[in-house]
Amino acid sequence: MKIFCTGASGYIGGSVAARLASAGHQVTGLVRSAEKADAVRAFGIVPVLGTLEDGEILAQAARAADVVVNAASADHKGAVAALLDAVSGSGKAFIHTSGSSIVGERSRGERSDDIFDEDTPVTPSPARAARVALNEFILSHRDKGCRPVIVCPSLIYGIGHGAGRDSVQVPLLIRLARKRGNAAHAGPGENIWSNVHIDDLVPLYVLAIDKAPAGSFYFAENGENSMRDACVAINRMLGFAGPPTAMSMQEAAAEWGEGTTEDTMASNSRVRAKRARQLGWEPNGRGLIEEIEQGCYRN
Ligand SMILES: NC(=O)c1ccc[n+]([C@@H]2O[C@H](COP(=O)([O-])OP(=O)(O)OC[C@H]3O[C@@H](n4cnc5c(N)ncnc54)[C@H](OP(=O)(O)O)[C@@H]3O)[C@@H](O)[C@H]2O)c1
Repeated sequence: MKIFCTGASGYIGGSVAARLASAGHQVTGLVRSAEKADAVRAFGIVPVLGTLEDGEILAQAARAADVVVNAASADHKGAVAALLDAVSGSGKAFIHTSGSSIVGERSRGERSDDIFDEDTPVTPSPARAARVALNEFILSHRDKGCRPVIVCPSLIYGIGHGAGRDSVQVPLLIRLARKRGNAAHAGPGENIWSNVHIDDLVPLYVLAIDKAPAGSFYFAENGENSMRDACVAINRMLGFAGPPTAMSMQEAAAEWGEGTTEDTMASNSRVRAKRARQLGWEPNGRGLIEEIEQGCYRN
């Protein structure tokens, strides 16, 4: 198959594109510099130079492909509109990447007991209302002669398989721990995120390309942990004695910025990947705590 992938130099898109190329597909990947073009070529991906703002470049690449995987941004409506317009009426699959912070609840590091699967109604926070509206816009194209599908990962961990190696939350926590000589979470750190190993996430994209019906939406998770649990594991990995530090929200915002702190590091995002499992997805990667303590982050 011919597959066009945005975000081909990134963590998710790079991992998916590299896997598809190694499986023998002809993969083209959007990149925005000559340096990134070289980086993706090393994984067997043919670079397409452009950005998410270049609607005509996106449309051309999508028309030349059998399948489009959009993994550059969960939020870029212009790019989504250009890609969907190009595949409408063609029957082609459009696999979009969202993110489970759409169900996120700001809680200043406190735990929430709210758990969401694909059938749970969501009232998004103001910070994620546009992302939820974009998801609805994408799925509404099920009636427009294409196969829109959304993969909605929770916190992803593990080393990427392609040009983009690192994810977001765990590396942020590890960098801060190294800087301070002790891991630190925002507030009490009892807030919980579902999580998924990149090694498990990639096969879900492959499954979605192969057999997800038009208009389907899939959370991706295979467990959950509190930020405090992750910090305890980071201290063990780094050999720091004692408990992690509970930062004030102001202190955390000074480290990570206010939006990242409130919506990502101190919030809850607890989801269940019910539909992905029904589709046949069988995640079996190392759990987050084990991966931190004994896996790829040690180096
Ligand atoms: N990582 C997670 O845990 C996670 C979980 C759920 C959802 N998500 C969402 O999934 C999306 C991708 O995440 P990621 O972790 O793979 O991010 P990433 O590693 O930063 O990769 C983003 C990719 O998109 C490209 N890109 C970004 N803006 C672009 C633009 N305007 N034009 C062209 N290319 C552009 C980047 O190119 P460059 O290499 O040139 O920067 C890179 O290849 C994000 O929207 C993120 O919120 C991530």
